[in-house]
Amino acid sequence: MRKKLVVGNWKMNLLRNEGISLVNNILKNISVDISVNIVLAPSFLHLYKVSKMTSDLTYLSTSAQDCSLNSNGSFTGEVSAEMIFSCGAEYVILGHSERRSNFQETNRELRTKTSEAISNNLNVIFCCGESIKQRKDNTYFDWIKSQISEGLFHLSASDFANIVIAYEPIWAIGTGTNANSRQAQEVHEFIRTLVEEKYDKNIADNTSILYGGSCNSANAIELFSQNDVDGGLIGGASLDYNEFISIINSF
Ligand code: PGA
Repeated sequence: MRKKLVVGNWKMNLLRNEGISLVNNILKNISVDISVNIVLAPSFLHLYKVSKMTSDLTYLSTSAQDCSLNSNGSFTGEVSAEMIFSCGAEYVILGHSERRSNFQETNRELRTKTSEAISNNLNVIFCCGESIKQRKDNTYFDWIKSQISEGLFHLSASDFANIVIAYEPIWAIGTGTNANSRQAQEVHEFIRTLVEEKYDKNIADNTSILYGGSCNSANAIELFSQNDVDGGLIGGASLDYNEFISIINSF
């Protein structure tokens, strides 16, 4: 059975005390259906503390927002997958469109990062998604196929079990305009078919595919009710505990 997941991507937000207070508020107010897995993805600054604060909770894990291509050594400013795992995190987000566009991350680099993460016991939340131009030109399926096949399909079937895919159309991220449920379902189904063609039906059925891009408490129920939408990667709305909890309760 694939997991239902709601991931809060804090991006480069929240000072140390603000992050701690957000986690305390989530823990105080949540009455979670144990079948939903929650993942908090704070900045590196918060990762160890948030992992400690939540380590007893089986339904809640933590994630980094990126990891280095390299395992260790003279890479000033970088954080390795092994270091992330040693902080208690179980996941790393890779290939977010903000990293692809602001830091010129390529599918080739993401392929290396994915392997690095998996060999250091992390699960990967691998992001893909098209620009508004690609959507209008109707080239979005090809684009998503190349992101996924170049970034992930070098993995063995057993390693692929550690992959979560997040479909995040760039035109929906932080814009207030989400993909509607039909658009999301269409791409999620396409992604699941790609995984089935590369591996097999069982692996495809067990892969969680999340939707991200202006997902909030007003649209989550509709989006999460689609057959191939297994949860959400939430940016802005994950910074407000009421909103985040409502999204979690949308399952
Ligand atoms: P958003 O961001 O929810 O603020 O649109 C989602 C994301 O970038 O992961």
